[in-house]
Amino acid sequence: MARVLITGGAGFIGSHTCVRLIEDGHDLIVIDSFVNSCNLAIQRVKEITGIIENKGDKRLELIEDDIRNRQALSKVFNKAEGEGRKIDAVIHFAGLKSVQQSLQQPLNYWDVNVNGTNNLLSVMHENNCRTLIFSSSATIYGTPKSLPITEDESFKPINPYGNTKEAVEKLLIDVYETDADWRIATLRYFNPVGAHPSGKLGESPSGIPSNLFPFLSQVASGRQKILKIFGGDWPTPDKTCIRDYIHIMDLAEGHLAALQYLLKQKKGLIALNLGSGKGHSVLEVVNSFIKATGITINYQIVDRRPGDTAETVADPTLAKQVLGWKTVKSLSDMCCDSWRWQKENPNGYPNVNSL
Ligand code: UFG
Repeated sequence: MARVLITGGAGFIGSHTCVRLIEDGHDLIVIDSFVNSCNLAIQRVKEITGIIENKGDKRLELIEDDIRNRQALSKVFNKAEGEGRKIDAVIHFAGLKSVQQSLQQPLNYWDVNVNGTNNLLSVMHENNCRTLIFSSSATIYGTPKSLPITEDESFKPINPYGNTKEAVEKLLIDVYETDADWRIATLRYFNPVGAHPSGKLGESPSGIPSNLFPFLSQVASGRQKILKIFGGDWPTPDKTCIRDYIHIMDLAEGHLAALQYLLKQKKGLIALNLGSGKGHSVLEVVNSFIKATGITINYQIVDRRPGDTAETVADPTLAKQVLGWKTVKSLSDMCCDSWRWQKENPNGYPNVNSL
């Protein structure tokens, strides 16, 4: 079993992945700045995996710090080595992820996402840890030339957030080309949604959510009045945008599969789409949510949102071939689990700092 450093382990994707890794027997060290996440998520990971009841259980160690703090990262690696259990691999989730915010704060996005990753890679290199899973995004494809999108599609991001993801992917290629001892998997997520089926873990955006599922859930709970559907004139069958939504537990499973795969390789760099391969329109999502929860959703079709594309759907064939992984959860599961999380945690996690 591996000892894994998880950067950003308290975030939405990080926390769900922590659960699956612990369940699979791995020991984790989480480093998180809590800039856009909450300590309570880690408490919940411990509850779900039974760590809380077992005092002295060292399966999940938490460090509050920033990946831009090189000294802090070095300390984590040195301490692990001193304990006689070096870090075998890193799963790097830490980063800023709002498209809209990245347009207002490009310097901050480049600093955290690119400089932070550069820092992490340097410290990994110094400590002879060369196994990495990196959180990339379908956003790097921009408006794709063809659908479904394969990993060969060129990089054409259209906002600073996407530019930072592209920059890190290129950095990883450069690093691998000069030192082929690395084992790297770059995972390009499509639209992660849903929540842990226990209702204890989920997405907790600060302020008014900009993504569809959190906003929809808040309309269902009465926290928001009406869902605005951005655009009713897209070139799609029902004229609303199509996305490839992936349940967060399927995504967590994809990380576990990628870790198991990398630990068996001698070296390699691979980029994989993590999506379902199925597209759903915004109206389909709304109708599925109504059917799954029995709650009426008020919505109104408004103008298109700048920066949106008509359709984004993954070709997940390569992930299936390489990792033996594919999604198993349905759109109805995504709606039910999102709603359970929202109902049981109407205000998300408390004390999430706004950026
Ligand atoms: N949408 C609405 N109303 C809302 C919110 C969203 O109609 O209130 C629509 C959007 O126009 C889009 C779809 O719902 O058609 C999905 O929108 P999201 O904001 O949930 O997701 P995006 O596809 O825009 O972006 C997501 C992540 C990005 C990531 C991208 C990868 O938020 O971080 O997927 O493709 F880069």
